[in-house]
Amino acid sequence: MLLKNKVCIVAGAASLRSIGYATAELFVEHGAKVVVTDVNMNAVVLASIKESIEKKLERTALIDGIQCDISNRQDCDALVAKVVSIHGHLDCLINSAGIVKSKPILDISESELDLMLDINLKGAFFLCQSALRVFELQRSGNIVNVASLAAQRGGGLVGGSHYAASKGGMLSLTKSIAREFGALGIRANSICPAMIDTPMLDGLSEERLKAIIDAIPLKRIGSTREMAGACLYLASDLSGFVTGATLDVNGGTHIH
Ligand SMILES: NC(=O)c1ccc[n+]([C@@H]2O[C@H](COP(=O)([O-])OP(=O)(O)OC[C@H]3O[C@@H](n4cnc5c(N)ncnc54)[C@H](O)[C@@H]3O)[C@@H](O)[C@H]2O)c1
Repeated sequence: MLLKNKVCIVAGAASLRSIGYATAELFVEHGAKVVVTDVNMNAVVLASIKESIEKKLERTALIDGIQCDISNRQDCDALVAKVVSIHGHLDCLINSAGIVKSKPILDISESELDLMLDINLKGAFFLCQSALRVFELQRSGNIVNVASLAAQRGGGLVGGSHYAASKGGMLSLTKSIAREFGALGIRANSICPAMIDTPMLDGLSEERLKAIIDAIPLKRIGSTREMAGACLYLASDLSGFVTGATLDVNGGTHIH
């Protein structure tokens, strides 16, 4: 058990096919007290998450669900306050909430750019700020931000320049947190996934998917469980001396 009794918020977990869900499942497996959050979280979604985790683990799972739009600062503050009121403290934030859209640069409208940055960058910023206020008082805490290969290579396999820019900002934000809060024992790291089997890949045609897979050294797409494993490593003491890092989970798509 790598996260025994650790209180962890996992954002972006509404879909059972998401990276957030797989991370919540693995964290519960490792003894964490998990709070799943999403803009689409509600009692029905939470019940399906709980049922799925309990089926997999063959035991009851203590898991809370709180609705939060991360682009809303008050929502983020309220989420963290609620978690602290339930559990008394907060150990870890996994931010896997986000949106993706593919579009040529010159076709992206101001409102499309605003939406992308509001959720993927400002939302990450707000959520981290809310958690860091608690972490600062505790003098402990751990943040894992799920960015994207798009931030590293200039545009994604499924995301446009506005998506890439939002995730690039997330990488810089994470490094800044690591530098500013390291002296308090607070760690922050990013993961750059690519081609993980989630609803984000649903829009790809079979032909495009095959072409992308042919170019991946491991010759397959990744599973959400494999992303969850990377989150577990960064959230646990296994990575105790790792902060400000960017971990690639891309099957070798971008070797640099
Ligand atoms: N799947 C991939 O191959 C891949 C590749 C690179 C990066 N990513 C990143 O991984 C993360 C997880 O994505 P996923 O692949 O699991 O897809 P997903 O769509 O299942 O998960 C994203 C979740 O974020 C939630 N969300 C969107 N806007 C929100 C908001 N304002 N507030 C709170 N929640 C919000 C969505 O409702 C959704 O449940 C995303 O940040 C994505 O950019 C995924």
